[in-house]
Amino acid sequence: MALSRRKLKFLVTVTMLNLFVFILMSRNGSQDKTGQNKPHIPSKPFWAKLAPNSAYWNRQQQIVDIQNNHILLTNYSSSDLPDWLNDTSLPSDPCQPNFRVTTQVKDYNSLPDRFKDFLLYMRCRSYPVMIDQPEICKEPPFLLLAVKSLAPHFDRRQAIRESWGRAGVVANKTVVTVFLLGNATAVDYHPDLSEMLHYESVRHKDIVQWDFRDSFFNLTVKEVLFLEWIQARCAGARFVFKGDDDVFVNTYRILDFLKGLSAPKARDLFVGDVITNAGPHRDKKVKYFIPESMYVGVYPPYAGGGGYLYSGDIAARLHGVSQHVALYPIDDVYTGMCLRKLGLAPDKHKGFRTFNIEEKYRSNPCAYKSLMLVHPRTPQEMIQIWAWLSRPDLTCQ
Ligand SMILES: *[C@@H]1O[C@H](CO)[C@@H](O)[C@H](O)[C@H]1NC(C)=O
Ligand SMILES: *[C@@H]1O[C@H](CO)[C@@H](O)[C@H](O)[C@H]1NC(C)=O
Ligand SMILES: *[C@@H]1O[C@H](CO)[C@@H](O)[C@H](O)[C@H]1NC(C)=O
Ligand SMILES: *[C@@H]1O[C@H](CO)[C@@H](O)[C@H](O)[C@H]1NC(C)=O
Ligand SMILES: *[C@@H]1O[C@H](CO)[C@@H](O)[C@H](O)[C@H]1NC(C)=O
Repeated sequence: MALSRRKLKFLVTVTMLNLFVFILMSRNGSQDKTGQNKPHIPSKPFWAKLAPNSAYWNRQQQIVDIQNNHILLTNYSSSDLPDWLNDTSLPSDPCQPNFRVTTQVKDYNSLPDRFKDFLLYMRCRSYPVMIDQPEICKEPPFLLLAVKSLAPHFDRRQAIRESWGRAGVVANKTVVTVFLLGNATAVDYHPDLSEMLHYESVRHKDIVQWDFRDSFFNLTVKEVLFLEWIQARCAGARFVFKGDDDVFVNTYRILDFLKGLSAPKARDLFVGDVITNAGPHRDKKVKYFIPESMYVGVYPPYAGGGGYLYSGDIAARLHGVSQHVALYPIDDVYTGMCLRKLGLAPDKHKGFRTFNIEEKYRSNPCAYKSLMLVHPRTPQEMIQIWAWLSRPDLTCQ
């Protein structure tokens, strides 16, 4: 992973520093005949008083971190934990709307509705499953392709089935494809598509749907439910690709890449189009706008949500750690936060082109041969590009 070199450098630096301190101390020690330079041991705790962070997400994460910090907790009897660390006025069912946020977030009333909805339900991580495919991984696949889709996107799903998401044996490896859906609700003026969806899932047996409102800010809910689903239904998958339904994925290239990985690389794999040193957008007009009352700080390195690839082993570890990371309204940033909590960082691979390729190459079949993902592509483009790549006589230098 990207960190390992840095980690090594860090370790070497720390070791050198230790050595240096040791030499200094032993020199001092030898001069210390009077016993005046004894190390100073503080008699009182030397850390600052626990003060709540003013940004709501940061504060929720702080609470989770402290509640999981047994060293700190042993010295607080539960009665003298400050109120903000043990808020007993919260609804005991985390899926009931938490109206405390209306006063706890400074500018709650002036925030756009999507923030209000997110904040009210931020503690809820479990929603009933409406359509499931319990048998889909009976034979654990080499690669699980999981595609975030919306109920009305029938044509995108069908194009994916007919092109890069074709399930079965591809390049001598087993591939399973699954579409991840929430509910397209009447709140958002969606027509009732449940019968057509039912037909589609009976016909193709590749739809998983949960009963939550399928909105942009609920994509993190989809992520958390999917991590849970993998452990319940597809824990044997060697690798997982998760991406959007408007990308083209070169499944041949991905399988090729995966087959060539060494065992340790394969175990810790997490690759995509990695964004580093980004932070929240403060411009209200941007889709990714996050107010200061919600989050402060930079984002950890994260792979753009258009699509990324990781190992089954990482999937299990992400599932475990996600329970200790407060939900964040942007799903790919959230996954980056989970990776960071695991002490990992995603690796950048230039085959992931979530910001497209140069216009002049877009209709050149050979341009796609060495790529893993290109965004965006329409259903028709997916089928066309797949036909190009599937030609046995396609020769590129
Ligand atoms: C915890 O409390 C005990 C007993 O009061 C004290 O000896 C110890 O130093 C404290 N430790 C910390 C980490 O505060
Ligand atoms: C929070 O407070 C309640 C009631 O005072 C107490 O029963 C509970 O153990 C406390 N929780 C923690 C994590 O200290
Ligand atoms: C296909 O996979 C099987 C089992 O992994 C292997 O034994 C076989 O050699 C592979 N065939 C080709 C053509 O790669
Ligand atoms: C999903 O959304 C539809 C349309 O708003 C609604 O009729 C239905 O009750 C929702 N929930 C389920 C479980 O279908
Ligand atoms: C997420 O889904 C839940 C359940 O349908 C809903 O109550 C909530 O408003 C949704 N949140 C957003 C931000 O849309």
